[in-house]
Amino acid sequence: MENSLLEGVFDIVREHYRQRMDRELPVRKWRTPTELAEILKVSIDDTGVDTEELLSVIDTYISECVRTQHPHFLQPLWGGLSEAGLAGEIATVLSNTSIYTWEIAPAATLVEMEMLATLGRFAGWDQVDGTFTSGGSNSNMLALLLARDRYFPNSKIEGVDGGEMAVFVSADAHYSLLMSAHVLGIGSKGVIKIETDEKGQMSSDALRVAITDVRDSGRTPFCVVATTGTTVRGAFDSIDELADVCHDEDLWLHVDAALGAPCLFSPKYKHLMAGIERADSLTWDPHKLMGVPLTCSVLLTPHLGNLGDTCSYIKSAHYLFQEYGEEYDLGRKSLQCGRRVDALKLWIEWKSCGTSGWKDRIERYVDLAIELENYVVEHPDLELVCERIFTNVCLRYKGSISDENEINLFNEKIRQQMVRDGKFMVSVAKVDQKTILRPVICNPAIDTESLNGFIEEMIRIASTIN
Ligand SMILES: Cc1ncc(COP(=O)(O)O)c(C=O)c1O
Repeated sequence: MENSLLEGVFDIVREHYRQRMDRELPVRKWRTPTELAEILKVSIDDTGVDTEELLSVIDTYISECVRTQHPHFLQPLWGGLSEAGLAGEIATVLSNTSIYTWEIAPAATLVEMEMLATLGRFAGWDQVDGTFTSGGSNSNMLALLLARDRYFPNSKIEGVDGGEMAVFVSADAHYSLLMSAHVLGIGSKGVIKIETDEKGQMSSDALRVAITDVRDSGRTPFCVVATTGTTVRGAFDSIDELADVCHDEDLWLHVDAALGAPCLFSPKYKHLMAGIERADSLTWDPHKLMGVPLTCSVLLTPHLGNLGDTCSYIKSAHYLFQEYGEEYDLGRKSLQCGRRVDALKLWIEWKSCGTSGWKDRIERYVDLAIELENYVVEHPDLELVCERIFTNVCLRYKGSISDENEINLFNEKIRQQMVRDGKFMVSVAKVDQKTILRPVICNPAIDTESLNGFIEEMIRIASTIN
């Protein structure tokens, strides 16, 4: 009976996986923290529990989690779980290795190198350096670090006077760029937000003006961040236009394509990232639209050697890295020492679906987003708050309410009730001070029935609010 725990766990996995798309089950069970602590038996005791109890604990835990593979899960920029992705994750955990040296992770090293090179080719780079990070936020931070090290080459040794630096981002850029500036000693004052137009695109004219103003004020601009697939609207900055600015002003161009990069798989949508080959670095999160299990994020750059210069401390890390084997010791290009093999689940899933599988998935998501957009436009009580560009649809309930504050409050109430009822999950955000609901099509289980159901549920809840 040595393996009874594992056998039991795999039974639980099979059962939960089987019912992951069951529409009759709630996406989320509403519990207070006290109730949930009791249900989970969250406290730890002096003595351990037997296998049966442990299996019950695991089963309860999974049952109490938000069902992120449910057809009504429309909330964040990720979701779903393919069998291949799960299999890849299991293989990763089972081999439990850290990918810092060839010596300890030979197979993982080849897989990671292959994935980096392949993603790099989709960005139009024949030669690429890169690394898997713990998420898009950290990929962005690493990009800013590379840029900082290029323009302030002493900073690795001497430290920085961040007050003299400036990085330019879209007003709709992800908050991780503020966090990165904080961590890198630049501070949020050094992050200059550039206004966006009605399509949610950063204005390159406003950018040029801001760069001049910032130079005049005594700061040194060193980086522009384009976002392709903004968090709320799903808007795409024009890489080509921003690359022109960066070329003229001698600045590093980072592209945060955490969400939007998979459009590169689609002949229909790759124009959204036209000019990507001109970028200096790129964030790409396979754990978002590609549905690879969390976490799986990549930072890529066509500048060979920069990552190694920034991240390598070989003399101090003599207990880990040897003088030989540089090319295959991927830990020399990472901010982490111990590191999971996140490339494996991407590789397994890619082997399973092939590149055409990614293309089909992305195009299906956009088709569904268009379908939802059409429902909203046609519905007398709903409003499409901004143009749909990709897989995000920003909408709100308006009905006959005319006061903007009241509309905002009304939509917040709809969303709160929706989460409590547990039938659908969708996020709330602001677009131009308007409170919106933002369904994202980023989960293979979502279909036409999900979208119809979501609209019906919104209207039903609205009718109960007074
Ligand atoms: C545009 C964009 N960049 C970066 C991130 C951060 O990614 P992660 O959550 O993997 O840190 C997000 C997250 O939603 C995002 O929308």
